[in-house]
Amino acid sequence: MTKSPVTVIGLGPMGAAMAATFLGNGHPTTLWNRTAAKAEPLVAKGATLAATPADALAASDLIVISQTDYAAMYDSLDGDGDGDVAHALKGRVVVNLSSGSPDELRRAGEWASRHGADLLTGGVMTPPQGIGQPGAYVFYSGQEATLDRHRETLSELGDAMFVGSDLGLSMLYYQAQLYLFWSTLAAYMHSVALLGTAGVSAEQFRPFAATTVRDLATDGPMGFLKILTEMFDAGVHPGDDHTLRMQAVGADHVVEAAREAGIDTAGPLALRDLFWRAVDAGHGSDGLSSVIEVIRRP
Ligand SMILES: NC(=O)c1ccc[n+]([C@@H]2O[C@H](COP(=O)([O-])OP(=O)(O)OC[C@H]3O[C@@H](n4cnc5c(N)ncnc54)[C@H](OP(=O)(O)O)[C@@H]3O)[C@@H](O)[C@H]2O)c1
Repeated sequence: MTKSPVTVIGLGPMGAAMAATFLGNGHPTTLWNRTAAKAEPLVAKGATLAATPADALAASDLIVISQTDYAAMYDSLDGDGDGDVAHALKGRVVVNLSSGSPDELRRAGEWASRHGADLLTGGVMTPPQGIGQPGAYVFYSGQEATLDRHRETLSELGDAMFVGSDLGLSMLYYQAQLYLFWSTLAAYMHSVALLGTAGVSAEQFRPFAATTVRDLATDGPMGFLKILTEMFDAGVHPGDDHTLRMQAVGADHVVEAAREAGIDTAGPLALRDLFWRAVDAGHGSDGLSSVIEVIRRP
């Protein structure tokens, strides 16, 4: 094998998919997981299970971590107190692709520096089955030169999108995308539930939902991603023929419809309150884009 060695720490669904990808592409792959048994299918295919975290760190220059959170990294690498792990971190490139808050990631950078390691943080924008598949990408932040040194290997997981040297940025991008993803799908679930109370099936509604989601990203009259972006950049919130006050009244009706139907109202109430707070802040005659002002300064 001529490929560079990789160590993967964390063998949940995501870490296991990453390890399988590196292994399948010919990298000597070393594993460590708190629950060692999860390594068995990969060891059967040729991976090496390290006996200790220190052994896992010693096996490769490139350490990829995929665990539930950053606390898991400290539990795994910082907990034994005998200095082995701290010593083994020296000179390593640690790529943590776990979820955390941006400040946690920045603190992790300080922790890594104290141990002589170089940290890259990342947010993975695909489910485990998408790892290594076209369309998968990962937001990275940290030192770009460090990413460049390992870009070829890391790109095997998905396209490497460098977003900046601030270690928290990868998670900010990741969370921005997750919020968009979850809130859109939660709104879809609300819509399906609402229509369901009148006997409309999800499949009957799906084509209309698909039109809305698709059109939002187009350049057409419903292409509000671009329309709002231009307004944010210009710092203007024209109300013209669709004022925020009109839309806040419409949001009241969405809440009432949910109440009448006997379904959960929490999502519509939050949206309605946001709109009315923007109206109360003086944006009633402005357009929808003005809502960003109360999001920025609640
Ligand atoms: N799955 C997805 O669709 C997806 C998509 C994008 C990003 N992500 C991110 O990828 C990361 C991994 O996700 P996942 O789906 O693989 O599952 P997960 O359940 O979040 O991660 C499980 C892994 O974390 C380890 N772990 C948790 N707490 C630990 C601790 N205190 N000490 C040591 N190890 C600990 C587990 O070890 P044990 O096996 O011993 O329990 C296991 O290896 C998460 O941060 C997630 O947000 C996931």
